[in-house]
Amino acid sequence: MDFIELMAARYSCRSYTDQPVSREDLDGCAKAACLAPSARNTQPWKIILVNDPETVAAVREQTSDEQLHLNMFTRKAMAFAVFVNEGIPYTPVDRGRMKGDNYTKSDIGGAILAFCLEAQRRGIGSCIIGSFCADGVKKVLGIPEEKGLDLIITLGYPADSTVPAKNRRPMDEVVFYNEYPG
Ligand SMILES: Cc1cc2nc3c(=O)[nH]c(=O)nc-3n(C[C@H](O)[C@H](O)[C@H](O)COP(=O)(O)O)c2cc1C
Repeated sequence: MDFIELMAARYSCRSYTDQPVSREDLDGCAKAACLAPSARNTQPWKIILVNDPETVAAVREQTSDEQLHLNMFTRKAMAFAVFVNEGIPYTPVDRGRMKGDNYTKSDIGGAILAFCLEAQRRGIGSCIIGSFCADGVKKVLGIPEEKGLDLIITLGYPADSTVPAKNRRPMDEVVFYNEYPG
């Protein structure tokens, strides 16, 4: 499978079998994430891999909401990769002036995609989630309150072999050479 095929094959998998995800596979995916680039190589993340069944059950509770019927599929996830934003700032500079921003979130986005692609390559389904109770997850995993927690990856072997069609804007709407379209 070449890289474009791997990118096309990855999808947000939201149904899982009850087969556990091995520690070797979780380590392999985390290794891919740790190879991701980051601003000034700050690597501003900690990745908490959750595979202990009791802890998985507790994280499932915090990532799903029965009343809002939100992310209920996480109750079947067999493992989680929780990306903690360590907030190690690298403040970009524009001609000597500090820009009021840092790159930790985009760095973590890159690491997350690398993790999901390696999971796909190993036949493991993944879904990035941004909607969850961050305070609850922090409590379960002992993550200090002041740390950032924006994204979690849910993991498990796909229960369904049908892969949804990719729904992406056509390239000619988003890709341009040399100047912004008029
Ligand atoms: C930052 C981010 C947050 C997301 N949050 C959720 C979420 O809370 N629940 C969910 O079911 N999917 C979530 N997704 C998955 C997106 O809906 C999905 O990536 C998008 O629809 C494209 O589909 P695909 O991943 O199957 O290609 C999130 C994706 C990203 C990148």
